[in-house]
Amino acid sequence: MAEITHIVDVQLTEEDLSDALRADVLRGLTGPRKWLPSKWFYDARGSKLFEAITELPEYYPTRTERTLLRHCADAIAAAAAEAGELIELGSGSSEKTRLLLTALSTHGSLKSYLPQDVSESALRAAAEWINAEFPALAVHGVVSDFTSMLPGLPRGGRRIIVLLGGTIGNLTPAERSEFFRCVHDGLEPGEQLLLGVGLVTDPAVMVPAYDDAAGVTAEFNRNILRVLNNRLGADFEPDRFAHIAVWDAEHEWIEMRLEATADMSVTIADLDLVVDFTAGEQLRTEISAKFRLAGLHAELDAARLGVQHSWTDPDDRFALVLAARR
Ligand code: AVJ
Repeated sequence: MAEITHIVDVQLTEEDLSDALRADVLRGLTGPRKWLPSKWFYDARGSKLFEAITELPEYYPTRTERTLLRHCADAIAAAAAEAGELIELGSGSSEKTRLLLTALSTHGSLKSYLPQDVSESALRAAAEWINAEFPALAVHGVVSDFTSMLPGLPRGGRRIIVLLGGTIGNLTPAERSEFFRCVHDGLEPGEQLLLGVGLVTDPAVMVPAYDDAAGVTAEFNRNILRVLNNRLGADFEPDRFAHIAVWDAEHEWIEMRLEATADMSVTIADLDLVVDFTAGEQLRTEISAKFRLAGLHAELDAARLGVQHSWTDPDDRFALVLAARR
């Protein structure tokens, strides 16, 4: 039997998750403009639906980022040759990270990999295949929320924090600057951050990526209501909500919403709460911000994270941005 060099730490229990969900639902569904944080899409079913989205013809971000990573993994490894520890936030299946791990452990000095995700099942599966494929790498998975993990990162061993997939786009601009500040404070001078971000491109390309013909994204969107049904004893009828995806040109983000197709009254048993929807009322479930490189560089710079290099795909739809803490 192979030596076990992977550990999974659970810093976030099912109970913590339910507490956080209760607080978010209370805040999001009792105000005048209803909204829910997008992190609640990802239970086991939601994670599967997201994996299915990444294979849709309309959803270009994942495959664009993968091709880009394939092309520039060696360049990234050269620019991060001293990194001893790769910390991946929101690692999910870690599938694209294979390219980075290969490059950084063959050309660089990578010794350990710390994937973080809210999904324990995704982390366990990832820790296992990575351990099998990279036996020399110490793998330490952490089940947590990615913002709460940053202040407690172990120091020592030169670190690179990686956030791929355009996940940073799900944060509001205020949450994003707070995130950059935490990254800066969590790192030592010279340690790095690698970000994968979607770029502003033609709305005729962006919108279908969030409103596919097969309706997988619609099911993913409605899954957030099923999560409330399962975790909080709510009685949403997901099929009575229509999926909406729009490009908000002012904020430069895609917004996903669920629109009530009739007047409805929903009971959320665990919160002793009744929430009324009027026909046509919309609930915001996700923002997915797209970036312009100059603007993103300025934001990073303001957080004293100096951009070292950016790589983009030939169609300028996606970018990988490498920065170092000053
Ligand atoms: C996994 C957060 C990057 O915002 O594009 C896919 C999630 N939402 N389709 C994104 C998502 C709708 C995705 N991220």
